[in-house]
Amino acid sequence: MLREFPVLAGLEPVAWVPEGLVVAPFAGGRDATEQAGRLAAVVLPWRADPGPVPPLPFPSAVGGGVYRRSPGHAPAPPGIPEVVLVDGEGFGLAEHATTGMCLDRLADLPDGPALDAGCGSGILALAWARLGRGPVLAVDLEPRAVWQARESAWASGLDALVSVRRASLGALPHDEVHARVVLANAPVEAQRALLAAGADPVPLGLLVSGLQQDSMDEVAAAWAVRGLRVVRREAVGRWQAALLRPS
Ligand SMILES: C[S@@+](CC[C@H](N)C(=O)[O-])C[C@H]1O[C@@H](n2cnc3c(N)ncnc32)[C@H](O)[C@@H]1O
Repeated sequence: MLREFPVLAGLEPVAWVPEGLVVAPFAGGRDATEQAGRLAAVVLPWRADPGPVPPLPFPSAVGGGVYRRSPGHAPAPPGIPEVVLVDGEGFGLAEHATTGMCLDRLADLPDGPALDAGCGSGILALAWARLGRGPVLAVDLEPRAVWQARESAWASGLDALVSVRRASLGALPHDEVHARVVLANAPVEAQRALLAAGADPVPLGLLVSGLQQDSMDEVAAAWAVRGLRVVRREAVGRWQAALLRPS
């Protein structure tokens, strides 16, 4: 089941029953072609008629080694790290390319306390804590994002490791930035504020995402002057992400 679960997660796991895991293949708004591909990849017998399926607020998925689900989805089997995101109005639920690129790069950062700079739903902070990488301070300007991230930390049983606060990146005290790994999927104005708050000494490692090419050039050049160099840069469509380490 551990091997098959990432495929089943894409089919909306709904409940564990004595016979196995019930999945709801067409919930959550994915298109039929994508669903058909996922079904074809399932190597286990699956129940064609799952019975009444609760309305699920968003698709479940595995990305960056973490299963993310709503409180209505079935939990992952033991051995698969999972986070629970409550429905809310923070930025997306990890479906956005800018978030996905960050999740995929978490493994390339050093362990340590992290700052989730512009945490939205809290997904990056929760994944960092769940993967045992370190405690996290998650901040966002937007009260609805702060609510969602905090509730999701509780729902995931991670509230002791993830502390969520409403704050502007520009107003963070210096020591809340520099001795941390910084996860910054945020607009360019927020990246500039972060640069002002955390420049000397620099963070232990930094993920920058949510920028288009010109803005990424500007932000990467500003961090280079302060001693962080880009070790990897990638794009999905017009969105770019970069991984930076002290040089
Ligand atoms: C693109 S979303 C990313 C959310 C989440 N980190 C993710 O990866 O899915 C950017 C978030 O940054 C927040 N934000 C923007 N400017 C900010 C600032 N100056 N200080 C704090 N948060 C800010 C927004 O409210 C939004 O939730």
